[in-house]
Amino acid sequence: MPLKSSPKLGPKPFLKWPGGKRQLLPVLRQYLPPMRTYYEPFVGAGALLFSLQPQRGVINDVNPELINCYRVIRDHSEALIAELSRHRNERDYFYRLRALDRSEAFRQLNEVERAARIIFLNKTCYNGLFRVNRHGQFNAPFGNYANPNIINAEGLRLISQFLRRPGLRILNTDFEEVLENAGPGDFVYLDPPYDPVSTTASFTGYQHQRFAQNEQLRLRQVVDRLTEKGCRVMISNSATDFMCELYQDFQIIPVAARRSINVVGSKRGQIRELLILNYPVHATKHLCFG
Ligand SMILES: C[S@@+](CC[C@H](N)C(=O)[O-])C[C@H]1O[C@@H](n2cnc3c(N)ncnc32)[C@H](O)[C@@H]1O
Repeated sequence: MPLKSSPKLGPKPFLKWPGGKRQLLPVLRQYLPPMRTYYEPFVGAGALLFSLQPQRGVINDVNPELINCYRVIRDHSEALIAELSRHRNERDYFYRLRALDRSEAFRQLNEVERAARIIFLNKTCYNGLFRVNRHGQFNAPFGNYANPNIINAEGLRLISQFLRRPGLRILNTDFEEVLENAGPGDFVYLDPPYDPVSTTASFTGYQHQRFAQNEQLRLRQVVDRLTEKGCRVMISNSATDFMCELYQDFQIIPVAARRSINVVGSKRGQIRELLILNYPVHATKHLCFG
């Protein structure tokens, strides 16, 4: 499948998401192989997806509210735009809407109302963070921004048009199930929640259950099965000893990534990440941190 360059006016991520890959796109694109079908089982905000705009693809995330947004944008973009226009960037209003997932009223919301709520909270909360507590309830504070861009009607229409491509599927399940059907020549981009670089570091505030090391091990077993089937796999993760060991027989490329989503401003900055490949590419280095 020929790769398109990311057109200036094409579809873009509609949410800011922890671990979003926008800033790493030039690096990711440099190492892309040819592909038949594009698989992204931890899609988040979908920075690489929107940059590539594949004709055939399977995207997935375990987060039901996130996947509901993708499906609503695809199927009901005009209703969503209308619903978003009802929301107000006011502190009390924000907290009332945020609190809905703590009450029975949440079950009464239809899919369009749920998607509008997530997009509104994401655009108006502090630092554009999707963060939930251990019960899965949204808990980022109000951002108090003068002019947040709550409705990008044209942007949503472009995304809708792209997501309606007949070759694109949107799933909401565990990554392992999604990858069962991947076959020879398919490309799989894996961007799971990161292995924490320290006990306090975490980008995984978008889910209430931790993606612990046993999950990273389960993912590694899936990568082995994909490799046997002839799929090309690219993995992003943090530069920890654990990750270096786990993928020691693969090509490991260290990359620097500037994270801007950390709530604590002083904690923003350069962190080292890894790009791990199961296929040969030119000019790669086998570098790890010791
Ligand atoms: C690092 S984020 C992906 C960021 C994304 N590449 C972007 O550009 O925004 C990881 C995603 O994995 C999802 N996730 C966590 N556990 C999962 C599982 N078992 N199966 C599928 N998705 C999962 C989370 O909900 C989260 O959206």
